[in-house]
Amino acid sequence: MAGQKKLLRALAGEKQDVPPIWMMRQAGRYLPEYRATRAEAGDFLKLCYNPDLAAEVTLQPIRRYGFDAAILFADILLVPQALGADLWFVTGEGPRLSTITTEADFAKLGPVADIHETLNPIYETVRILSRELPSETTLIGFAGAPWTVATYMIAGRGTPDQGPAHALREENTALFEALLARITEATIEYLSCQIEAGAEVVKIFDSWAGSLQGEAFEKYALEPCRQITAALKARHPGIPVIGFPREAGEKYVGFAKATGIDCVALDNSVDPEWAAAHVQVDGCVQGNLASRHMVTGGQELVDETRRIVAAFRNGPHIFNLGHGITPDADPDNVQLMIDTVREG
Ligand code: CP3
Repeated sequence: MAGQKKLLRALAGEKQDVPPIWMMRQAGRYLPEYRATRAEAGDFLKLCYNPDLAAEVTLQPIRRYGFDAAILFADILLVPQALGADLWFVTGEGPRLSTITTEADFAKLGPVADIHETLNPIYETVRILSRELPSETTLIGFAGAPWTVATYMIAGRGTPDQGPAHALREENTALFEALLARITEATIEYLSCQIEAGAEVVKIFDSWAGSLQGEAFEKYALEPCRQITAALKARHPGIPVIGFPREAGEKYVGFAKATGIDCVALDNSVDPEWAAAHVQVDGCVQGNLASRHMVTGGQELVDETRRIVAAFRNGPHIFNLGHGITPDADPDNVQLMIDTVREG
């Protein structure tokens, strides 16, 4: 595997003395250069749909820090928009969408075949990045997992407990499952186009997987991830897939085997020593430093970073945060984390 990019080697199961490193939301508001480009674009969605500027913000953290991977700059909520939902962002609050709670709402969504009309600029961003990234940097494409995307489509916004989506799932299971199936199909087509445009790895973000219990987790988090992974690997043999069933807890165990993904991304609620013993035994893991260290820094950041690197030292590992970096993070703390990981 010599000569291959560090991140791809980890995904292929290689243990490395210094793990590859990247960061969720590495292109974001904590960086002054990101804020300047977003202002130039006008707003967040205009930035997502402007291939030159979206490529520029994707490259900014690579130039500044030399991460081993770049993640396409876009958002998981572009898929609902491409399916016909209204989408807008309220500054300081987050996303808003038209809601789906009845058959009539669902009937207004467009067919999967039409999503590319909206999403073509995203594929163009991927093409620009695959030309412009340094040869050692891996390009990661992504999409939201069907359950997480559905929680926003049903509620029309983020909610603390995904209550409206759980309610629909219990009260109108047929409608809920039809919506999940539509998102699953769209996600396969979307990720497939990202791969054709040059994405070397894809990641499936299931930020709200942890709110699904028991059989519901198997049906609505695990099974869609398995279907998407199987379809992508059938069309693009060897494409590595990272899954992120956030806050899955004990259900992280066996998730990679059951879904066919190549790497499980761990949130910071799981203990790295426990995860090394029970999750990393099946292959590559990614994670899992708490994002708050990017705000607080200091010796605690160094100690916790060293602890995570040491815990995962005996198997394939991609160093990352347990969730996205927050806007109040200090860019110097990111450098301290990278230096600590790379000191070996
Ligand atoms: O990681 C990256 O750098 C790639 C780009 C990326 C964004 N969103 C950009 C973004 C990725 C991978 C996402 C994923 C995403 N989007 C998720 C899953 C991961 C997670 O964080 O749990 C979710 C749930 C969303 C939906 C979303 N987008 C929300 C809830 C919000 C508002 C909250 C917030 O952080 O402001 C967004 C906005 C968003 N997506 C921003 C960025 C950089 C901030 C927008 C801005 O610049 O104003």
